[in-house]
Amino acid sequence: MAKKSNQNWWKEGVVYQIYPRSFQDTSGNGIGDIRGIIRRLDYIQSLGVDIVWLNPVYKSPNDDHGYDISDYRDIMEELGTMADFDELLEGMKKRNLKLVMDLVVNHSSDEHPWFIESRKCRDNPYREYYHWWPAEKGTPPKRWSFFDVEENAWNYDGQTDAYYLHCFSEKQPDLNWENPTVRQEIYDLMKFWFDKGVDGFRLDVITFISKDTDFPELPEEYNGDFIPFYANGPNLHSHLKEMNQEVLSHYDVMTVGEGTGIHIDRALDFVDEDRKELNMFFHFDLMDLDREKGQMFTMRKEKWKLTEFKQIHTKWDSVFEQKGWGSIYLNNHDFPRAVSRWGNDSESYWHNSATMLHTFLLTMRGTPYFLNGEEIGMTNIKFENIEDYRDINTLNRFETMSNEGGDPQEFIKNEKHAGRDNARTPMQWDTSPNAGFTHATPWIKINENYKRDVNVQAQELDKDSVLNYFKRMVAIRKQYGTLVYGDYTLLDPENEEIYAYTRTDSENSFLILLSFSTTENQFLLEGVDFEHARLLISNDSAPGVKKDPRFKLAPYQAVVYQLY
Ligand code: NOJ
Repeated sequence: MAKKSNQNWWKEGVVYQIYPRSFQDTSGNGIGDIRGIIRRLDYIQSLGVDIVWLNPVYKSPNDDHGYDISDYRDIMEELGTMADFDELLEGMKKRNLKLVMDLVVNHSSDEHPWFIESRKCRDNPYREYYHWWPAEKGTPPKRWSFFDVEENAWNYDGQTDAYYLHCFSEKQPDLNWENPTVRQEIYDLMKFWFDKGVDGFRLDVITFISKDTDFPELPEEYNGDFIPFYANGPNLHSHLKEMNQEVLSHYDVMTVGEGTGIHIDRALDFVDEDRKELNMFFHFDLMDLDREKGQMFTMRKEKWKLTEFKQIHTKWDSVFEQKGWGSIYLNNHDFPRAVSRWGNDSESYWHNSATMLHTFLLTMRGTPYFLNGEEIGMTNIKFENIEDYRDINTLNRFETMSNEGGDPQEFIKNEKHAGRDNARTPMQWDTSPNAGFTHATPWIKINENYKRDVNVQAQELDKDSVLNYFKRMVAIRKQYGTLVYGDYTLLDPENEEIYAYTRTDSENSFLILLSFSTTENQFLLEGVDFEHARLLISNDSAPGVKKDPRFKLAPYQAVVYQLY
């Protein structure tokens, strides 16, 4: 067993991600707020989770819902005040919950005072805080932007006759990390939050921070797939090392990078403890699985296969067997809901597939991350009309598609499965109007299935609910360190219906069987001694322990056995 010598709170913790706009409104503006989170702290604690990752709450004009920050030391007005934030942090500390913030420093908002200054004139002291390309040098070499209608990351600014770089929207100019003053500014703002008592950061597109400021032509091989190029800037690792040395090493905090573009071969370069960079990162191999190659937001034509799903997790697990640490997730605010994507959200399979996926995340090695609402099996909303979407990514891509004469119906068809708004609809608390989220008109429509049983209140009362299963599974993970640190072994790798594996260390051994199928499956498992197996949990009427190693698993059934 590899890791016990290196135990850590952020390895053992279960993370609960909160998208603040969609959690709980208390101010009556239809938008979730910090006081709403405070109001729900007992609920969060009741889940048994340990760490809350809060999407950005800083001051922001909200072009990209908080990922465009205009003041890193203040709170967005519609979400509350700094006093609210301090109260939230205190309430969390009282409940032994850790708070991890989002650090968005690849770019700022164009309304940040640094950028306002920077764009004023070419010799402004803040000019070098951003990347500028003077127009007399000609059109800058092609760089792609995620949220630009023309997909162009260079925006011409007439005031100084120059272009500035924005890998996201034109209101999100990229900060110039090659400027040491910028790096110091960032380290200072990190210290500001750590000194308040914050427990860590999720680092937004941290892989993009370093740029060759000569901006050479994009090498041919990256044409159409620019992400790996962006993620391979010349000074990326020296910046991360410096950040670690100057800030992170002085606090007991956790870091999880958004690992956009990290190839598995480079994984340990970021999280090998000896290199002193980050603790963990999110890889995108699973998130890319049902997408067209190089197209983050376009669904691929054929359905993903379970063997591919297993392969991804098995490969990534092996990388961190001896060094580093992984993070594991099935959705977040940028991707569709887990149960709709990896399970089956039709009424007959919804319960089993949501709980089966909980079983999966909570029995794998690596720190598990859940997005608010996942614990109750919230599903994709699948908006039919472009007017219902709120996400800049969908809205701008819609415009691009229209400009290019594309088919709006095809676009919406894709978006119903791929759109980020699927994960951003309000939390479903109860069956009162607007699901108990707000008394006002919500900023984005609420999924009607709150009126059914996809709400917290109904599920708290039902002992077999998705929510209560989630709590039981979290408790099981807490009880057995083997599920956190133990070795992982994949069984029956070619099976397209069932994912089976063991987790083992010197103290315990567990067998996990997960059906990813809508049909009942008979399944033969050799080499496991079922005479000595105790059923720990199942989301369906479990088959019990049999001497015969043939199992019948119900559709989307999950079973965990303890082998002794
Ligand atoms: C990744 C974030 O998760 C996403 O929501 C955001 O739009 C981009 N980075 C830009 O900050």
